[in-house]
Amino acid sequence: MAQPSLTRIAYQTLQQGKGLVGLAHKGISTKLMELLIPEAIPETSPITTDLLLELRDSAKSLEEIDWLEAERGLYPKNLLFDVPWIEWFFKYPLVWLDMPSTWKRRKKKHFQDLPKTINKENYPDYYLQNFHHQTDGYLSDHSAELYDMQVEILFNGTADAMRRRVISPLKEGLELGFSSNNFANYKVLDIATGTGRTLKQIRSAIPEIELVGLDLSTSYLKQASKYLNNYQKSELVQLVKGNAERMPLLDNSFHAITCVFLFHELPSKARQNVLKECFRVLKPNGSLILADSIQINDSPQFTQVMENFYRIFHEPYYRNYIKDDINLRLTDSGFVSIKANSFFMTRIWSATKPS
Ligand SMILES: C[S@@+](CC[C@H](N)C(=O)[O-])C[C@H]1O[C@@H](n2cnc3c(N)ncnc32)[C@H](O)[C@@H]1O
Repeated sequence: MAQPSLTRIAYQTLQQGKGLVGLAHKGISTKLMELLIPEAIPETSPITTDLLLELRDSAKSLEEIDWLEAERGLYPKNLLFDVPWIEWFFKYPLVWLDMPSTWKRRKKKHFQDLPKTINKENYPDYYLQNFHHQTDGYLSDHSAELYDMQVEILFNGTADAMRRRVISPLKEGLELGFSSNNFANYKVLDIATGTGRTLKQIRSAIPEIELVGLDLSTSYLKQASKYLNNYQKSELVQLVKGNAERMPLLDNSFHAITCVFLFHELPSKARQNVLKECFRVLKPNGSLILADSIQINDSPQFTQVMENFYRIFHEPYYRNYIKDDINLRLTDSGFVSIKANSFFMTRIWSATKPS
């Protein structure tokens, strides 16, 4: 049997290290909460050893496919190591300093504890919340600064590996849907782009492609701009502030759209509106690649994990989302050739706008 290369061992070690840091962080913060503010501890179902083993195997399979796709050349291997260690090292204490206010919010069930300066009329009601009890919701620079690290901790270091699962169906959709052999002719939109992690990964995989990101949060877009637009060699990534339900973008203008971790934070009507908008903005033969949480139907073995997620974090639409029929929504919006696959905690749908 071939020996794993040094790069592969380094990647496995990095993933193990990130996993341990995530687990240690959550373990210590839960203990602290038990000690200091026990009333804020949510009621959750215990996770059995069998379930833990199943989770570990599923995370291993994700790591395996992440490595294999890099080896196949779908994206460069250095993307697997793309962690801003120094920046996170200095920001990590802020996550701890932020924790007491998160606990207080959780205890008092204050879910609309947002900066006073925002103009609420600019946002849909469902958006004006502290998703996952996050300080300021999505509406401050402070929140945007900490977001990537918090997500990485939440998923024990697998968040980027899950986001990267959009790259293979994205490339496949472009190759099957359009005839140009030059990716520079293609335009891709990432909606709910947040701090731009997915855009950064797509740009590494397909450097010549034209990229646009859209989000409702000015602060998150500013953060995305910092991450994305400081490389002299690459094209400017355009960032647009807007609601994915009514995008300020032309009909039939994009070859592909990606959307990562948005749908579980939308009420069901908004989910349908977003799909219809994606259909409008895509060119005929264009593809939509959707990444979001697994659901009860495709991953019944992880039902407890999904249920604990909405008990622990403020995720008001997640309970509805995990039972939602996304395939039906895609069909109702006009999409065809719908495919779906699950990778650890993430499900990826791909669908095409017919010609
Ligand atoms: C959980 S974050 C996901 C961000 C990013 N895609 C990622 O992979 O980390 C959800 C993002 O969706 C954005 N968002 C929520 N509702 C939106 C809407 N209706 N239109 C545009 N963006 C929205 C939020 O501002 C936030 O940046």
